[in-house]
Amino acid sequence: MDKSSLDPALVDQLKKLQQKYAVMGQDLSSYLDGLLHADYLTYWDYIHLDTLLSLQNPKTQFPDEKVFIIYHQITELYFNLVLWEIEQIAEKEKIEEQFFLDRITRIVRYFEMLESSFSVMVDGMEKDQFLKFRMSLLPASGFQSAQYRLIEICSTDIINLVQVEVREAMMEYSDIEQQVEHLYWKSGATELASGKKTLTLQQFEEKYKKSFKDAGMKYRDCNLRKIYRKHFAESPEIIKRLREFDELANVLWPLAHLKSAGRYLQRDPDSIKATGGTNWQKYLPPRFKKIMFFPELWNETEKEEWGKAGVLKAIR
Ligand code: HEM
Repeated sequence: MDKSSLDPALVDQLKKLQQKYAVMGQDLSSYLDGLLHADYLTYWDYIHLDTLLSLQNPKTQFPDEKVFIIYHQITELYFNLVLWEIEQIAEKEKIEEQFFLDRITRIVRYFEMLESSFSVMVDGMEKDQFLKFRMSLLPASGFQSAQYRLIEICSTDIINLVQVEVREAMMEYSDIEQQVEHLYWKSGATELASGKKTLTLQQFEEKYKKSFKDAGMKYRDCNLRKIYRKHFAESPEIIKRLREFDELANVLWPLAHLKSAGRYLQRDPDSIKATGGTNWQKYLPPRFKKIMFFPELWNETEKEEWGKAGVLKAIR
């Protein structure tokens, strides 16, 4: 082939490009000019590394605060991936079993990462430093993670997120607006001393209440539980994977998290009361909350003993 002539495959690509741009009334040649002057893409620009590394701004001089910030950010990124997978499932017009299974498997993988890496919090900070810098962060708390709440809302029907004490009584109400008022976490964020809503909860509701209601409406008919029950209720593989997800999200991750609260905050309730703390010892353990995204996948004993899996895993 004459060195100056263009490779036919390249000519073919150029023709296709020309057609693509012509459809939108655009002139390919101008775009090629742009390409000629453009820089090559770099890794650091592509992933916005400089921006990413500018987002850690400790409030104190304690070095371990950086560990605390970055690990929260890592967790939020994984939460974002979980939501991304759920969104793809919910938006699929014709959902196939393999697609659903693959996405749930990915979600399980993300939660496994989160559960196994929680030791970064439990063992990775000096207790003395933590107890000091955390006072500069009040009243902020991971409790205010909106993505965590959205994962719950998109995974199941709101009734399964209602406080366990009133869940059965609320079954008869199909009204999401009413159910949202009784989401389990609202009952958790009360001050030990006064029994009033904590400032943490008040601020969280002020910012996100409407988005949670909207998400509840949007996912009423396309949350993971609804999709599973409608299309895949007979699939043993999907059932197995959903059980893994339920256990990771509602037992194993919460227990890994609880371990960090136990490690850093374990004190007698009176001294917590005095500092305006929450009733987290009663609120955080999965066995009290009994949140299950897919209650029909667990037998009565498993429901009764919800939370036991984590304890067994810990002593294995
Ligand atoms: C040393 C590390 C940690 C400690 C001591 C801790 C402590 C607590 C406590 C005491 C609560 C109860 C609410 C409150 O009193 O504020 C809570 C809730 C929560 N935290 Fe953490 N936390 C830690 C790390 C994290 C991390 C890394 C995340 C990741 C985003 C996180 C997410 C959450 C969530 C989602 C809740 C609400 C749980 C629920 O409603 O069931 N926490 N945390």
